[in-house]
Amino acid sequence: MSLILGIESSCDETAVALVASDRRILAHRLAGQEAAHRPYGGVVPEIAARAHVEILPGLIEAALAEAKVALDEVDAIAATAGPGLIGGVMVGLLAAKGLALASGRPLVAVNHLEGHALSPMLSDPDLAFPYLLLLVSGGHCQLLFVEGVGRYRRLATTIDDAAGEAFDKTAKLLGLGFPGGPAVETAALSGDPAAVPLPRPMAGSEEPHFSFAGLKSAVLRARDSGRYGTADIAASFQQAVVDCFIDRTARALEAAGGATALVVAGGVAANQSVRGALERLAAARGLPFVAPPLWLCTDNAAMIAWAGALRFEAGLTDGLDAPARARWPLDPAAETARGAGVKA
Ligand code: KG4
Ligand code: ZN
Repeated sequence: MSLILGIESSCDETAVALVASDRRILAHRLAGQEAAHRPYGGVVPEIAARAHVEILPGLIEAALAEAKVALDEVDAIAATAGPGLIGGVMVGLLAAKGLALASGRPLVAVNHLEGHALSPMLSDPDLAFPYLLLLVSGGHCQLLFVEGVGRYRRLATTIDDAAGEAFDKTAKLLGLGFPGGPAVETAALSGDPAAVPLPRPMAGSEEPHFSFAGLKSAVLRARDSGRYGTADIAASFQQAVVDCFIDRTARALEAAGGATALVVAGGVAANQSVRGALERLAAARGLPFVAPPLWLCTDNAAMIAWAGALRFEAGLTDGLDAPARARWPLDPAAETARGAGVKA
């Protein structure tokens, strides 16, 4: 049994957790920065990095106190080393290096996407490799075949916007505020998902990837036409995203073959329509559907500590010269998807 301290700071959440390799979460602290970024309608990287500097030391102290453990009782220090907003990544990674130096414990440099990819195993002890993961967050939209710790095959990615980014941009277009995902979901509750004809980009395509830029432009045209109410546009947009997820995920299930479960993670997995549709797809394929609890779906440090625990137990630790990386593909062998603003 090992005990890992994990740090997450790659976007606008500052988080620290202590997690044991037997899945016990001894402490979990998270400080969001929504209020600081709200006036700008999105995350401002420099504001986020400065906030991490101010918040992180207090969170580390609080997490250790909550877990009632001393630093030298921890077996390894894990931190997100990328991909993400580089200023924030540097703050968290350097804090972890300081703790590793002070305690003499090894550092585990965790890929943030690996944290999301392995998080379902923290909440579900029955989940076994290999599984198909739909990872949908503010920065990513990927289908990953998770074969083992450190073994990920990227089957699809987005050729333009990430899924959460599409929600956030749609919220902005509709004047629904920030962060956009929950605002669109709430607005959609009172709308008709069939009211506005919107495209399903890439649906039915032989190519495995996602695309959301065209959907966003269609939302803009629907708004400017003046023919539709905000709730109807929000509901129709959400339905279009769900339809794209299902089409692409069904294709990947067939392409990969042998998945033991369908898993969803990332902030957009908090969306109830998304969860419901994926659950029905899994049931139709005779597969278990696994979605971590909401707090584990959005950015947090427990998933980083957990990925750190699995890596530590596999002997995968890092030197104190581990780099902070703005881009860090989980599957370096994956072909680059063609498109305008391709994400890692
Ligand atoms: O995983 P996450 O917390 O951070 C990243 O690594 O990006 O994901 C945040 C994203 C944001 O784009 C947010 O709008 C979206 O997840 N999101 C949602 C919902 N809750 C959060 N999107 C749709 N419906 C939701 N309920
Ligand atoms: Zn994330």
